[in-house]
Amino acid sequence: MFKIGVMASGGGSNFKAIIDRIGEGDLEAQCKFLITNNGGCGAVNHATTYGIPVYHISGKTHPDEAEYEKALCAVLDERPVDLLILAGYMKKLPDCLVEKMPDRILNIHPSLLPKFGGKGFWGLHVHEAVLAAHETESGPTVHLVSSEIDQGRILAQRKVPVMPDDTPASLQARVLEQEHDIYWRTIKEYGESLQK
Ligand code: GAR
Repeated sequence: MFKIGVMASGGGSNFKAIIDRIGEGDLEAQCKFLITNNGGCGAVNHATTYGIPVYHISGKTHPDEAEYEKALCAVLDERPVDLLILAGYMKKLPDCLVEKMPDRILNIHPSLLPKFGGKGFWGLHVHEAVLAAHETESGPTVHLVSSEIDQGRILAQRKVPVMPDDTPASLQARVLEQEHDIYWRTIKEYGESLQK
């Protein structure tokens, strides 16, 4: 049994998919907290439903950058975890956090990295770019987080076809469905490999 903490900014469907797998016993892990930079997001509702402690830490709650970074690291000191899971967290992590958890932070990205990754590539923008480039396939990537956005070691990828009549929203839905399956499996495999 290993411990995870999750960071999310949006609807939180990936967060929910992970928590559901824990609840069903497929993923033998405990979720110790949710950190969000968006206090009103769907992920917070899921955390509340499941009784998971929520930390709202953002530029609003902590306008001073140093205090903001200190608050993020304090959560890790208060509730130590084996893995930190970014599930639609739309803010770059401060270096101090990446350095605190080397090779222990995972992210999911909705394209086949290294394609369509880096600054500006998040959420629906990724799928718009994939369609604009006339790609025939896309899909999620799970990777370790390094100090450069979307550049850490790739742990898993899954391809889905891009259909001729796709819109950014329809492609997003097809990729998201696979995200919900690939993320918990990769967390399980990687988390268990660290315990050996
Ligand atoms: C997911 O598609 C995730 O891959 C993406 O945001 C969405 C969050 O959805 N992440 C990024 O774009 C990170 N660069 P969710 O809130 O429903 O899990």
